[in-house]
Amino acid sequence: MTLLNLGCGTRTSPSAVNIDWAVALRLKRSRLGRGVAPLLLRGERRARYDAMAGELVCHDLRRGIPYDDGTVDAVYHSHVLEHIDRAAVPGFLAEIRRVLRPGGVHRIVVPDLELEVRRYLADLDAVDRGEAAADGHDRFVHGLLEQSVRREAAGTSAQRGARRWLENTLLGDARRRGETHQWMWDRVNLRAVLTEHGFTDVDVVDHRTSRIPGWPETGLDQEPDGTEYRPGSLYVEAVAG
Ligand SMILES: C[S@@+](CC[C@H](N)C(=O)[O-])C[C@H]1O[C@@H](n2cnc3c(N)ncnc32)[C@H](O)[C@@H]1O
Repeated sequence: MTLLNLGCGTRTSPSAVNIDWAVALRLKRSRLGRGVAPLLLRGERRARYDAMAGELVCHDLRRGIPYDDGTVDAVYHSHVLEHIDRAAVPGFLAEIRRVLRPGGVHRIVVPDLELEVRRYLADLDAVDRGEAAADGHDRFVHGLLEQSVRREAAGTSAQRGARRWLENTLLGDARRRGETHQWMWDRVNLRAVLTEHGFTDVDVVDHRTSRIPGWPETGLDQEPDGTEYRPGSLYVEAVAG
């Protein structure tokens, strides 16, 4: 089975072809990169780099998906769609439809706007009732907005001195690296855009369930202990017509 993991970042699977333009993949794919990676990456970043497994493809998805028509059984992307400019979403979906065989599965994971808004409103009400502290409320606004307005990439902002300067100079800001959210999705607008672009059988699922055979074993949406990799996500599957 050919399963593509688009915009994989460091969340790769041996069961998938993992595609991203991120530096981590470039480092992992070349002998020189593997040599310098231990000097560049520390702590949690290094652990994520070391854990990367499976086939890795460095590619800018704005240039399409490097597969022939109807040759792929399933396409998965997690926390990628919200990073794509809204005007480019139809082209991205058309590319996924093109590479999927008829009946192939398209699995999408995005931050769930509905959940975030409900949490925001619930906290606002709790503050009004005096059941939650007003000074903690801003974290709900943060959840809604921070990743859309962020200037510096998150990993880089945690670095110090010369390393931070070098990363910003070489790699650019959060927007240039594709790290900022360009849109937000919920179960209604995601279903609508999928249907509009030729996908059928659109269903909301969860991190464990999928039409893709052996999904839990891919390790993409859940950790080895069975916990959800990205809590607060919306999981949707659709079929290529
Ligand atoms: C929030 S991360 C999600 C990573 C991973 N899928 C996960 O769930 O942890 C978004 C990923 O999309 C990738 N990405 C954004 N724009 C891209 C593009 N044009 N081509 C390839 N990858 C892209 C970024 O490099 C980043 O790794």
